[in-house]
Amino acid sequence: MGKVILTGDRPTGKLHLGHYVGSLRRRVQLQDAGDYDKMFVFMADVQALTDNADNPEKIRRSIVDVALDYLAAGLDPEKCTIFIQSQIPELTELTTYLMNLITVSRVQRNPTVKTEIKMRNFEANIPLGFFCYPVSQAADITLFKATTVPVGEDQEPMLEVTRELVRRFNATYGEVLVEPNIMLPENATARRLPGTDGKEKMSKSLGNCIYLSDSADDVWQKVRSMFTDPDHLRVDDPGKVEGNAVFTYLDAFSSDQDFADFWPEYKNLDELRDHYRRGGLGDMKCKKFLYQVLNRFLEPMRLRREEFGKDIPEVMNILRKGTDKARETAAETMAEVRRAMQINYFE
Ligand code: TRP
Repeated sequence: MGKVILTGDRPTGKLHLGHYVGSLRRRVQLQDAGDYDKMFVFMADVQALTDNADNPEKIRRSIVDVALDYLAAGLDPEKCTIFIQSQIPELTELTTYLMNLITVSRVQRNPTVKTEIKMRNFEANIPLGFFCYPVSQAADITLFKATTVPVGEDQEPMLEVTRELVRRFNATYGEVLVEPNIMLPENATARRLPGTDGKEKMSKSLGNCIYLSDSADDVWQKVRSMFTDPDHLRVDDPGKVEGNAVFTYLDAFSSDQDFADFWPEYKNLDELRDHYRRGGLGDMKCKKFLYQVLNRFLEPMRLRREEFGKDIPEVMNILRKGTDKARETAAETMAEVRRAMQINYFE
């Protein structure tokens, strides 16, 4: 049995630096390492609609935005299959059967679902489709027999549900589905990048994001007004790097090479941190450096985005081809599922 990587995003807006360090960068590395048999990356529009049912325009627009972000970041449709969730009817079919193998109370205990219900103020009015999305996500993963799912920590409860459903399914109907493993981001900063305002998370609703598609000028404006150490009033004052968003970002994005190329007065981030802590180093200098560091990888993305953006029908064509290819795998697994469940009446 092969190694299959599968992961996806809800298309509810453009992707930002948090997505990049948290998952996108890793996906491109995984794709280029080629150390797997298949790789699927998909846009979870069915899941996005579970709490955006009244806003289909937003989801539709985001499909194109996210596709451009994927391609700009370096996902290569020759090496990884990019597809749209809603266009794989087998996913809905498998979801229906998996729902018989899990209880309402089991889903109610899912901490991620609990948090989201609070955040969205659903209280007694939880859309049933939203409530069931962990099962739908289990179908996403198992229909493609994914072995490895690179996602953030908040997705661990979904993977748990998926593994339980796989065991239930296989015990009830026979060995068909595969238990997946989660692959978490390498380090703590990559797991949760704070917003430019220093708040714990980069999030569209907080307006504290740097988008992968932001212009160089936008990036500079955002970096310039970034949260640092509120007690670092004069350059000579000692500064704090903990909770200082500029330093958190440098931690996530800068390399020794960046220092060599843009700020050779320091060998690495440790030296810069020491100087900042001692005092005598102004925020603006650090921000200018961070801007250069970010621009170094954002600029090539901007250029690629611009290229792909010139031919949106071709982008849609890439998605259509990826979806067709994903459907082949989906159909194979679904045939096995139907046979195992003895609902292959006309075979
Ligand atoms: N729930 C994921 C998110 O919010 C998106 C997602 C849907 C997903 N289905 C998936 C991720 C399957 C990995 C595998 O980001």
